[in-house]
Amino acid sequence: MIYLKNAQQLALMRKSGALLYEVLCRLREAIKPGMSTAELDVYAEQLIRKHKAIPSFLDYQGYPATICASVNDEVVHGIPSDKTILKEGDVLSIDCGLILDGWQSDSAFTVGVGAISEENRKLIEVTEESFYKGVRKAVNGNHLGDIGSAIQTYAESFGYGVIRDLTGHGIGRAMHEEPSVPNFGKPGHGTRLRPGMTLAVEPMIAMGDYHVAELEDGWTIVTEDGSVCSHYEHTIAINEHGLPELLTYPGFALTEEAE
Ligand code: MF3
Ligand code: CO
Repeated sequence: MIYLKNAQQLALMRKSGALLYEVLCRLREAIKPGMSTAELDVYAEQLIRKHKAIPSFLDYQGYPATICASVNDEVVHGIPSDKTILKEGDVLSIDCGLILDGWQSDSAFTVGVGAISEENRKLIEVTEESFYKGVRKAVNGNHLGDIGSAIQTYAESFGYGVIRDLTGHGIGRAMHEEPSVPNFGKPGHGTRLRPGMTLAVEPMIAMGDYHVAELEDGWTIVTEDGSVCSHYEHTIAINEHGLPELLTYPGFALTEEAE
């Protein structure tokens, strides 16, 4: 069942999202060659707890950390480690979630560590833009397939692989609510979008093929062909006006696009 949020609940989710935005901004600034992903994890947990919020990933189905830190061919759910030392040229995805006053938010971004190749820079840029192409479709009366189709069409036009085995999701009091939000699909298909829906939209885009595998740690998902992958995620709402609003990017205004 899909839980629609009323105005008061949306206001609480905005607060949760705004805090996560701050946390991710601080993490982004902290990323430097030579540091470990475990250091980033410690910093994330400190930031979250300082604001009286709870790291939502920690202990989620036994997950051992506050963030996921996925490097290069790792798609998602990379476990932070003091053995994973970031080096110049790496492509790093940070995914983080928190709970504030009982309301969840979930967001991820991908950056280059130091200078990265032009090819990898382009992958990150297209992944972000695919997210915005999808989110512009998240208006009252459209369908989930409109979001997925917009993401897929754009990413595939660059020859990239759209990961199929993992999807976005509804979010609210729980991190994962219905519906699941695929990054592929057909326009006009799937659940109809309505005001009060809150979704984590999260394209995972690979330089190569979209097939993935899980590592022996039981968490880390990698591309089967070893190609570099990028991930970008925000918690969004279809707000009271029936329009998409980025809860984890306060103040950001989606611009109209010439079709
Ligand atoms: N952001 C992830 C998602 O959207 C959650 C990470 S899974 C966890 O599903 F186990 F690390 F929490
Ligand atoms: Co998510």
